[in-house]
Amino acid sequence: MTGLIPIRVSVNGRPRELAVAAHHTLLDALRDDLGLTGTKECCLVGECGACTVILNGRSVDSCLVLAAEADGGTVLTVEGLAAQGRLSALQQAFLDTGAAQCGFCIPGQLLAAHALLGLTPHPDRAQVEEGLAGNLCRCAGYEQIIEAVLRAAGAPPSAAASVEDGAGQRSRPDPAATPDATVAPQ
Ligand code: FES
Ligand code: FES
Repeated sequence: MTGLIPIRVSVNGRPRELAVAAHHTLLDALRDDLGLTGTKECCLVGECGACTVILNGRSVDSCLVLAAEADGGTVLTVEGLAAQGRLSALQQAFLDTGAAQCGFCIPGQLLAAHALLGLTPHPDRAQVEEGLAGNLCRCAGYEQIIEAVLRAAGAPPSAAASVEDGAGQRSRPDPAATPDATVAPQ
């Protein structure tokens, strides 16, 4: 007996089968087992939001979720945001506003913002601040990050559709177009 627990999880639209230790977190599984290092490891106690991913449609701190708890679930990581190599409207807005400074917190900020826009497509500033309250930025680039989310939310119809496409990606993914397919072990 290995003591490992077999789990099946859809990651960025791609079915994955893993054997995980009971104490391993979803963050461990994503980074160490699947090589998806876009999800960042920092405080490991749910304080910083660097490890944010979307699990079954809700943003979670993946350092606080056991990998075994994700069995049967659906996970979206930052590697899954850009479909067919095209940045989502949200990612483009982060670029356009200069929101990424050192960049360490940005994957988590993007996933938290993606979840927020999925629930509240046109948030006001207070709603953006609340939606991103669990994501710390040591570079203190909060103004640009908030501006980016508001810009993505208020984008013209074609760009706004990209945001919705990003959400739709979670339920209708094209595994061949998933960026992690080229970096994760098969
Ligand atoms: S590493 Fe998970 S919240 Fe900080
Ligand atoms: S951009 Fe450096 S921590 Fe946020």
